Amino acid sequence: MAVNHLQDYYANVIDSVGDGVVVIAEEGGITLINPAAEELVGVSRRQAMGLHFTSLFRGEDLLLEMIEKTTRTGMTISDHENIVLKKTGHPIPVGATTSPLLMANGERIGTILLLRDLTNIRDLEEAVRHADRLSSLGALAAGLAHEIKNPLGGIKGAAQLLAMELPEGSEQRDYLRVVLKEVQRVNRIVEELLELAAPRKLELAPVNLHKILGDIIVLQKRSVDDREITFQQQFDPSIPPILADEALLTQLFLNLIKNGVEAVGDTGQVRVSSRVLADYSMTQKGERRSRMVAIEVSDDGPGIGKEQLEHLFTPFYTTKSKGTGLGLAICQKIVAEHRGMIKVESEPGRGTTFTVMLPLIQ
Ligand SMILES: Nc1ncnc2c1ncn2[C@@H]1O[C@H](COP(=O)(O)OP(=O)(O)OP(=O)(O)O)[C@@H](O)[C@H]1O
Ligand SMILES: [Mg+2]
Repeated sequence: MAVNHLQDYYANVIDSVGDGVVVIAEEGGITLINPAAEELVGVSRRQAMGLHFTSLFRGEDLLLEMIEKTTRTGMTISDHENIVLKKTGHPIPVGATTSPLLMANGERIGTILLLRDLTNIRDLEEAVRHADRLSSLGALAAGLAHEIKNPLGGIKGAAQLLAMELPEGSEQRDYLRVVLKEVQRVNRIVEELLELAAPRKLELAPVNLHKILGDIIVLQKRSVDDREITFQQQFDPSIPPILADEALLTQLFLNLIKNGVEAVGDTGQVRVSSRVLADYSMTQKGERRSRMVAIEVSDDGPGIGKEQLEHLFTPFYTTKSKGTGLGLAICQKIVAEHRGMIKVESEPGRGTTFTVMLPLIQ
């Protein structure tokens, strides 16, 4: 290969790497930065080239220390815990490694900095912690639910008998109707809870996500006829059918969209969109990497405060008088069963976005 071709070849290799690569010359100037690093650091190649590394990474003290030390001593240093890049406006947790750039004869001519975006790994870790909490809580709750179901049946039966004893149209009958309605409500909560705790087998088949989402939106539109709520949908037509349990996915998105509708109140907008996460891959338990699809359900309701955010997926957490607080706990279970992830972002006063990520091939 001619020298030029060889250079192009190596440049392409480095540009194609998913991790950020930055090369710093002996005297501290940036001599190479690949697209992944441009994105993480929040600068363009044009801006970065020739810049001294202390200005490129101003404020990122840990990173500066690592580069300085490797440049000075030739040591390789890694940190996968403590570094958070802040340049792009939103903090990105990264793993960083600095190593010396060596010539064939061993002479040191600079420092290579590798940056790996840990955002999704952090999300995953959080999901795992949460699943642990949920499973112990779930076992406890399921035991309790069983215990509640029997006496509830007794109350219902007795109330029905009593109602038959009373004359039609009497006030006491109305009271009993309230009793029966409330018993029905407790029963529904108990059943949802049992379902939440029970392991189950998924009925997997190719499902058309957009059809599910479209159907739910049509139904919701009808049920909010009297309110000024607009629905917006923005689907990526390239998303193929995914292998999933249709009934469960319907329940998942219905819960999310209903929450959005309930959040906006009398006027507002609920937006549902889908896209393929091109570079996104995830491994769990050593399974093969696969591409993911992201479905976002956003609303412009009141949003959720920071302290509330961490309780959202906990069973029975609710701020609604008629809510069970099981909706999102069920959503999280369904997403986990499909080996996906769910996350929520919210800005009080502006609205809330739930993002569900599901593997494209299962
Ligand atoms: N889009 C949203 N905007 C604002 N707050 C939300 C949103 N979605 C959920 N929440 C908050 O999270 C809580 C829990 O939601 P979840 O769906 O689990 O239960 P719920 O909606 O209260 O009850 P249920 O789903 O049984 O009707 C809600 O009570 C609400 O405070
Ligand atoms: Mg709900």
